[in-house]
Amino acid sequence: MINAAIIGVGRWGPNLLRNFASMEGVRVAKVCDLDAKRCAAIRSKFPEVITTTGPGDVVRDNAIDCTVICTPVATHYELAAKALANGQHVFVEKPLAASAAECRKLIALAEQNKRVLFVGHTFKYNAGIRAAKNYIESGELGEVYLVDASRTNLGPVRTDVNALWDLAAHDISIFSYWLGGQPRSVSAHGACYLNKSVEDVVYATFEYAGGVIAHVHASWLNPRKIREITVVGSKKMLVWNDMNLSEPIRIYNKGIDKDELYPDTFDSFRLSIREGEVMIPSIQLNEPLMTECLHFIECVRSGERPLTDGYDGLDVVRALEAASHSMRQNSACVPVE
Ligand SMILES: NC(=O)c1ccc[n+]([C@@H]2O[C@H](COP(=O)([O-])OP(=O)(O)OC[C@H]3O[C@@H](n4cnc5c(N)ncnc54)[C@H](O)[C@@H]3O)[C@@H](O)[C@H]2O)c1
Repeated sequence: MINAAIIGVGRWGPNLLRNFASMEGVRVAKVCDLDAKRCAAIRSKFPEVITTTGPGDVVRDNAIDCTVICTPVATHYELAAKALANGQHVFVEKPLAASAAECRKLIALAEQNKRVLFVGHTFKYNAGIRAAKNYIESGELGEVYLVDASRTNLGPVRTDVNALWDLAAHDISIFSYWLGGQPRSVSAHGACYLNKSVEDVVYATFEYAGGVIAHVHASWLNPRKIREITVVGSKKMLVWNDMNLSEPIRIYNKGIDKDELYPDTFDSFRLSIREGEVMIPSIQLNEPLMTECLHFIECVRSGERPLTDGYDGLDVVRALEAASHSMRQNSACVPVE
């Protein structure tokens, strides 16, 4: 039996609790939140779980095998470092930490203590995102020209991190997963409307190897909830829409035939635009968070390296740091170190 604990049961933590509590061979022994009301709410649903308002009661508890951290980003490093130093396996919600330096220290601690360091990049466990990766890698779309993401909604508004760190972190993780590498540079623009120093809206453009452009519009100040990414390839185009629960992917057999770029008549211009069929693949959907939590427990049991390990978390934080520098330098193009 694996004894698990969860620190932070605000908006997202209860989803982690539900998944881990439903797993065979796992017992959620403790839940911690600084807010006593959150603890009481958990006790009313899970009376067998011990709750505490002191994170030290979790990270210093030798009976806990693994700790799941779902608190604001600024607290991730300290909590994860203490849990790892005490010999616990650690699952940290995205982004892994508030800086690349903190991520590197967590990776070193996990390696020294031979413990799993896992990051909650949920979309790498999403069936639609995984299917899209297969289409991209199989060459179905041809050469990838660009990727364009929108992640908007009205709220939830955060004050601890901006829309880049909160929302675009997901898209950066997806871009690198699909494109099989890290961005080289980024140019980002953000705007603060609700709070003086927290960007509610961010437009960031990353450049990957081969000049592939990956753009994200991240905002919690928008009337519509959109979770959509378009991949434009030389042969076909793919759209992933996470709001379409039954058919998240569409592949458009559309494009412009380059030989015909400068046609001399309107008819030949029309011919150069390829308007083919739209293919909607059947995708077996499941809860990505369950797939993710199961993978974490498998890694704890087997010592296998997670798909979303500390290095993966570090890569996303490096890209976020570079985008933050760009925003502070009037959208200058900043290398991702
Ligand atoms: N993977 C995903 O899809 C996903 C979705 C939402 C949020 N998240 C991530 O989950 C984390 C939490 O987000 P949220 O929206 O639940 O935030 P939240 O503010 O709603 O909840 C955070 C909770 O942590 C508690 N807390 C704060 N500091 C603490 C500490 N030191 N010890 C114990 N408890 C503490 C707070 O009282 C609060 O209840 C963030 O890192 C966020 O990016 C991930």
